[in-house]
Amino acid sequence: PLVVHVTGARPNFPKAAPVLEALAGYEVEQLLVHTGQHYDDKMSDVFFRQLGIPKPDVNLGVGSGAHGAQTAKVMIALEELFTERRPDLVVVYGDVNSTVAAALVASKLGITFAHVEAGLRSFDMTMPEEINRLVTDKLSDLLLTTSTDAIGHLGNEGTDPDKIHFVGNPMIDTLLKNKPRFDADAVRQEVGIEGDYIVATLHRPGNVDDPQDVKALVAAMHAVADQAQVVIPLHPRGRARLEEAGFLDHPGMRVIDPLGYIEFMGLVRGAAAVVTDSGGVQEETTILGVPCLTLRPNTERPVTITHGTNQLVTREVLAERVREVLAVGPLSEWDTPPLWDGHAGERIAKVLAASVSAGRRGEA
Ligand code: UD1
Ligand code: UDP
Repeated sequence: PLVVHVTGARPNFPKAAPVLEALAGYEVEQLLVHTGQHYDDKMSDVFFRQLGIPKPDVNLGVGSGAHGAQTAKVMIALEELFTERRPDLVVVYGDVNSTVAAALVASKLGITFAHVEAGLRSFDMTMPEEINRLVTDKLSDLLLTTSTDAIGHLGNEGTDPDKIHFVGNPMIDTLLKNKPRFDADAVRQEVGIEGDYIVATLHRPGNVDDPQDVKALVAAMHAVADQAQVVIPLHPRGRARLEEAGFLDHPGMRVIDPLGYIEFMGLVRGAAAVVTDSGGVQEETTILGVPCLTLRPNTERPVTITHGTNQLVTREVLAERVREVLAVGPLSEWDTPPLWDGHAGERIAKVLAASVSAGRRGEA
């Protein structure tokens, strides 16, 4: 049987790595597709090298574009590929445009597909990811969830409970496996910072697309940099807009290129706090016990607040919350969400393998 994994953007890679590895222990052929949604070395290839992910069998090379164009390009290329190869199962990850494109194509071709990280909801339809999550989950045959709130959301939407599997968080498998390689001192030296620092990542359209938002964001971040040095491995989205708005015009601001996974996690591990609008970073700080201030009005990952180190903040209160977090200092105790234990990949592989063999029996 053939299982096709569809990946394409930075957050997909640390989620897919443990699934590919665990599924290699079963009698299935695996084909890894990279859509090419992300293509810079630091947004893509570095993850394959550092995490030992096999080189993609196919790269669709779709590149950047408006949502419709990007999603459509992935769909056209995948429709051809799936028609030719007739996978027994397609696996999609997370909530990016490559995810929803693969979901649409697989379901229209009648190919069973599984969604890793199903059921997360921000209930914020201005987020492109929320649209991607809703469409993908509605069409999905197997919904693999990272947290129990996700099971509740899917239930409320009328999803057949037999399709839902609570498997834990594969992103955390990758984190726990590689944790011994996260060396804060080495990265600090490389980046050239001394003393306490805060790591920031910012790329959500809600923060960096509108010039008025960007202006307010720059002021809020400068008020953070008044208190401690801020290191920002900046995503390409919004970079020019932030720089034009004077983001760098503060001696405490260190803007650098995106970092490789191992370096980024090293930097986060040694940080006094993190300011972010990323989804994955809310989860990673929860496991590393680093206080996380999420600059968003909502989160699809509430478990990082109830069980982790995360809190939601507005630009208006950000500097004050940073002050509080720095005053408290390093956390000695914190909770972790259920099944974020380093074994999600194995549980996912088991569900996928069972589905494939049930499908085969159904045909016979
Ligand atoms: C995408 C995901 C978002 C995720 C983020 C993770 C969607 C709708 N959004 O957002 O959920 O949080 O990835 O990183 O799928 N660019 C480069 N080099 C690259 C890739 C992108 O310079 O390798 C630039 C291009 O100018 C591009 C812009 O970044 O137009 C945005 O890229 P895109 O993939 O459309 O969305 P992201 O903002 O990266
Ligand atoms: N990441 C990285 N280098 C960076 C920033 C992020 O390796 O400079 C990793 C980190 O593990 C994070 C993942 O990339 O969880 C995806 O992050 P991103 O914020 O791009 O996507 P999101 O989770 O918001 O969709």
